[in-house]
Amino acid sequence: MKAHIDFLAISDLQRVHEIEKSAYEDPWPLQSFIDLLSLDHFKHAAIYLEKSLIGYAFYQVASIEAQIVNIAIDPKYHGNGYGFLLLSKVHEEAKKLNASECFLELRISNQKAFSLYEKIGYKKIGRRIGYYDNGEDAWMMKCTL
Ligand SMILES: CC(C)(COP(=O)(O)OP(=O)(O)OC[C@H]1O[C@@H](n2cnc3c(N)ncnc32)[C@H](O)[C@@H]1OP(=O)(O)O)[C@@H](O)C(=O)NCCC(=O)NCCS
Repeated sequence: MKAHIDFLAISDLQRVHEIEKSAYEDPWPLQSFIDLLSLDHFKHAAIYLEKSLIGYAFYQVASIEAQIVNIAIDPKYHGNGYGFLLLSKVHEEAKKLNASECFLELRISNQKAFSLYEKIGYKKIGRRIGYYDNGEDAWMMKCTL
């Protein structure tokens, strides 16, 4: 099935939250997505299969720096290249906004995401000790766009 990428609409947010709950142990509340969508400096992208939303990303661009704040694919569709496709599109859009670097953080135990980021060109630039609520550390990663 062919995937396509578009912006998110407010009517997508319930589905975004369902994916969020199935993709993360510590999901964001629905209100966080409602807030992000209303803020001009946050950008978003959604990936659809036919008309079904299967993943989303939120990011921001300030000067030459972009930062991914959330990206997830519905676990039913993991491992099919959709995460790669979505992140590639986010990079493309960030470049159009003059970003030349993109940053993100992830749990050091998140091997799937780490592999995706490495494959797309991210490098580790630091480690935040006890960054997450359960005390887990985060890798800080950077990609030159
Ligand atoms: C991280 C995530 C977005 C990847 O999405 P995806 O659609 O499964 O990723 P892709 O199919 O595009 O895979 C891209 C690369 O990721 C890695 N990857 C994907 N699934 C993997 C798995 N089960 N085990 C190890 N690496 C994996 C591989 O390097 C893969 O490249 P390859 O297929 O050439 O080997 C997805 O796993 C997800 O939503 N996870 C939960 C939320 C999350 O952790 N978000 C990131 C927080 S920082």
